[in-house]
Amino acid sequence: MAVDLLLGLQWGDEGKGKIVDVLTANYNIIARFQGGPNAGHTLEFDGIKHVLRTIPSGIFHDESINVIGNGVVIDPVVFAKELEGLDQFNLDYKTKLIISRKAHVILPTHRLLDAASEASKGKAKIGSTLKGIGPTYMDKTGRNGIRVGDLELSDWKEKYRALANKHEAMIAFYNVDVQYDLEEMEAEFFESVKVLKELQFIDSEEYLYQAQKAGKTILAEGAQGSLLDIDFGTYPFVTSSNTTAAGACTGLGVAPNQIGDVYGIFKAYTTRVGSGPFPTELFDTVGEDMARIGHEFGAVTGRARRCGWLDLVALKYACQVNGVTKLMMMKGDVLSGFKTLKICTAYKYKGETITHLPYNIEPENLQPIYTDFKGWKEDLTKMTDKAQFPKELNDYIAFLEKELEIPIHVVSVGPDRVQTIYM
Ligand code: GDP
Ligand code: IMO
Ligand code: MG
Repeated sequence: MAVDLLLGLQWGDEGKGKIVDVLTANYNIIARFQGGPNAGHTLEFDGIKHVLRTIPSGIFHDESINVIGNGVVIDPVVFAKELEGLDQFNLDYKTKLIISRKAHVILPTHRLLDAASEASKGKAKIGSTLKGIGPTYMDKTGRNGIRVGDLELSDWKEKYRALANKHEAMIAFYNVDVQYDLEEMEAEFFESVKVLKELQFIDSEEYLYQAQKAGKTILAEGAQGSLLDIDFGTYPFVTSSNTTAAGACTGLGVAPNQIGDVYGIFKAYTTRVGSGPFPTELFDTVGEDMARIGHEFGAVTGRARRCGWLDLVALKYACQVNGVTKLMMMKGDVLSGFKTLKICTAYKYKGETITHLPYNIEPENLQPIYTDFKGWKEDLTKMTDKAQFPKELNDYIAFLEKELEIPIHVVSVGPDRVQTIYM
């Protein structure tokens, strides 16, 4: 069986957690392929709201196996807390949650390095979630990292010490004010490693290969969004992994010719948290309304998300880079009651009109060009069938399908599992 992918097409927080949970009914295995505890994937069902960080969003389904792939970076401290949060649900995560030996481990000093690096940047800071993501991927590509499989070796603490000592020297080199008590952080870390080691570590690429051969259905779950991709995002205001489709191949060991459907998920408008350019950002009451109605606060950091209109130029680019086969539009319900809706269909770039994403999208070079749409008044949150959709919403959807040349497969009309309408 082919491996299907689900990934975010914007700057993250599109609603991946919700949709993976919904789609898990159709899959045997859910596999996270990149990112780490910088992610916050929210699920809602039966009156419960839950935020997952490193654990795949299929975990609540009895039959599903959840794999944390080699492309993921794991902080044992956050992970142990995540498991603790799941205790109340009586999930058998010792059999249904398995971890790649090749996934890299976030050390306490990686978190400190993240903080020191951001502090040293001043106003130019990335707006990182400060979970140690960048420094951990740096150690991975620098070939210095500690992997989950290393934790099974008797001498891993020596390797740990050497790396942590080097990190401390680097933190001092930044010469910024980062207060910490490493002894305390390490005590918590070593306790959490014990919790992590209670789970099954596997050679996940082999596991997934055999599962595929046996006809199991697999969904790869992305974190962050395409515009935060280390190569194709708004560099340097990005995360440190490939969030796009190629990242699923390297992050799980799945061959490119084994990829089936690529589900691309986007909000009916746009949000971004952290620094970096955002051409359609709104600074007026319309943006404030979106933030308030959409509850646009970070699931991890609680930071306010910046809000703006849908950017079709950026969305097209993301569909192209990922080879999206099916689209899913989230949070359409949030736009109910806006008199006029705008979609950015081109940019004015250094005096010219362009319809592709240029190298530099900083506001001094670029202004969005909008097409206006009539809004709808109807509350979508109770709707259960597309036949109930107002004409204006159908027009909005039809325009996007025509421009993107990809069908919109799902329209989400609320945070709950059941608020999901198949087209
Ligand atoms: P993720 O990181 O892509 O999984 O997304 P987040 O969980 O960070 O953010 C999405 C937020 O929107 C969460 O609070 C979800 O519960 C919520 N959400 C998801 N889909 C919808 C929807 O269709 N309508 C509304 N109103 N909220 C939604
Ligand atoms: P999910 O999976 C939204 C953003 C941060 C920052 C930049 C780099 O929930 O969609 P990092 O901690 O990776 O060094 O931060 O990326 N960012 C996210 N924004 N959703 C996320 O994940 C994000 N993960 C990182 O705000 O701008
Ligand atoms: Mg999120």
